[in-house]
Amino acid sequence: MGAIIELNNVTYSYPLANECAIKNVSLKLEEGRFYGVIGQNGSGKTTLCSLIRGFAPSFFRGSLTGEVLVCGKPTLDYKPGELSLKIGYVFQNPFSQISGVKDTVFEEVAFGLENFGVPVDEIEERVIRAVELTGISALAEKNPYELSGGQQQRMALASIIVLEPDIMVIDEPTSQLDPEGTESVFEIIKGMKDRKKTIILVEHKVDLIAEHADEVIVLDKGEVIRFGSKDAILSDETLLECGVQLPNIALLGNKLTRSGVPLERIPITEQQGVEIIGKALRTRSWCK
Ligand SMILES: Nc1ncnc2c1ncn2[C@@H]1O[C@H](COP(=O)(O)OP(=O)(O)OP(=O)(O)O)[C@@H](O)[C@H]1O
Ligand SMILES: [Mg+2]
Repeated sequence: MGAIIELNNVTYSYPLANECAIKNVSLKLEEGRFYGVIGQNGSGKTTLCSLIRGFAPSFFRGSLTGEVLVCGKPTLDYKPGELSLKIGYVFQNPFSQISGVKDTVFEEVAFGLENFGVPVDEIEERVIRAVELTGISALAEKNPYELSGGQQQRMALASIIVLEPDIMVIDEPTSQLDPEGTESVFEIIKGMKDRKKTIILVEHKVDLIAEHADEVIVLDKGEVIRFGSKDAILSDETLLECGVQLPNIALLGNKLTRSGVPLERIPITEQQGVEIIGKALRTRSWCK
């Protein structure tokens, strides 16, 4: 399958910045895949998202070399507003996403559809579905600014889901959610993946990336230091030196291997852990 998003030798720096926020990044992202983006604070995750969405450089200015292509076309060649039809973007800070011109959550979620000229009946149906899906139906009549951070995150996600974009760029959607809220957001994202959306998700909760993503992109100081199979990347302890977290089960797997328990491979999810460690325990050929 062809790449839906492509970065060719991209280097970007914000205005007046001494250092590049993104350095020499080349990536090909395929349609319908779910990419998890990880890396320590300041490694360039949000900037990568902004480049894909076209906010950098068109909104942030700064300087870009190389090219970012969405559906084969450079982001710089899209007309204003055109990329927002293709890419839904959930901001890291949900507060930044509130339009400020709508009085209720319902209207806020409907805002994008209104802008795209969707008929009123259809808007209503789609908004009802989106608020139900994100668990905020009960908040529909509230003012967006009265919501908690976690509720705003759900509203931000609803505002994007309602537009049904082909690509979803989601920057830390669960930072203000409790574990239950986090699980439910991942369920929603999983639903989007089942509907063949291409998903780029920045998330520090690596256990959930291990569970749900197809592939992983690791950033360090603006560079992509790993890209590809989540099993290989999320079990690689050398990444700890770059401030990247690994799933607890992968850390345990590495420790067991070092202490002489030969595991078939390092597990990255609980389910894999049960199977792989369970198998090693059952055979116990290593146990004298
Ligand atoms: N608007 C901006 N103007 C100038 N520099 C910026 C701006 N936004 C980010 N930066 C710088 O660019 C680099 C990458 O920042 P970015 O926000 O992309 O990192 P991040 O990986 O998303 O971090 P976090 O995990 O804290 O969200 C950092 O050095 C940061 O200070
Ligand atoms: Mg960020």
